[in-house]
Amino acid sequence: MNNIPHLVQYQGSKRLLASQILKYMPNKIKNFIEPFCGMAALTIAIAKQRRAEHYYLNDLNAPLVNLLKEAIETPEQLYNDYNLVWNEQFSFSPDHIHHFYHIRRKFNDGDTCPANMLYLLARCVKGAVRYSSEGLFNQGMDKRRNGTKPDAIKQNAVMISSLLKGRVTYSSVDYREVLDVAQTDDIIYMDPPYQGVSNTRDCRYIAGINYDDFVSSIDDLNKRGINFLISYDGKCGDTSYGRDLPDYLECTKILLKAGKSTQATFLGESKVTYEALYISRGLSNLALQNQESFLFEEMNNGC
Ligand SMILES: C[S@@+](CC[C@H](N)C(=O)[O-])C[C@H]1O[C@@H](n2cnc3c(N)ncnc32)[C@H](O)[C@@H]1O
Repeated sequence: MNNIPHLVQYQGSKRLLASQILKYMPNKIKNFIEPFCGMAALTIAIAKQRRAEHYYLNDLNAPLVNLLKEAIETPEQLYNDYNLVWNEQFSFSPDHIHHFYHIRRKFNDGDTCPANMLYLLARCVKGAVRYSSEGLFNQGMDKRRNGTKPDAIKQNAVMISSLLKGRVTYSSVDYREVLDVAQTDDIIYMDPPYQGVSNTRDCRYIAGINYDDFVSSIDDLNKRGINFLISYDGKCGDTSYGRDLPDYLECTKILLKAGKSTQATFLGESKVTYEALYISRGLSNLALQNQESFLFEEMNNGC
């Protein structure tokens, strides 16, 4: 299911893992909640399979949520505005590299409109959103590319819109506020910033989350009988990243194959990376059935 429509590469996107994660979700979902939605890869994947009636997208990064909202609710508007920003780079003097920094300055001065956010994402290094401690977008530009062409944005935005328009609630608050309003029959998918980068000076995301707060929020979901899935760090070769979630949360932990580590390949090693998926107690039976068929398939494939 790699043909999930998407606007731009977003660092940490779960687009390529979506089909594996979806196996552990119910077929019919009333309300699907992503409190750390990023570019909403899982929501789009679920919508493509028409598995949920309603969706809730939240991310602390407000311009990112506004971008998703415009893509979903008024894709033509996003295309028209992005087309202007993207084409402006070729008329820019002395050369179009300066255009990225011009838009970045405008964004940091408060013009965080969806087209500017999208252009910065489309042109910045590795689609990695980075903010300074003052909250200013400080990621540099990838000089090798011109950024996703407006026609590709239009095609993808129209597709995403056809799947989600009129079915989404949006917000830009801390994930805990979203969990507070979740109901018993909702399904929550959480993909928080990686522990490896959260509490370091590397501002890969606009905010890190505190491990103990996160664990206590999950505990609260369990007490309220709400089901969830969490992507939470992983393993490359023999090295594990991040602290496991505690056993008393009674989650089933599954390792999903995320492919070859680019870092290891660069160093001449061949290590496979795995990403952990934690599945709540209530969804675990489904998880175990799928895990068994997965192991069976792996055995038959001679792995
Ligand atoms: C790993 S990314 C999510 C990627 C997403 N699953 C996708 O496929 O695009 C984590 C996201 O969490 C957001 N975030 C960080 N701290 C947050 C918080 N306290 N509450 C809500 N969102 C937060 C970041 O802005 C970032 O977009």
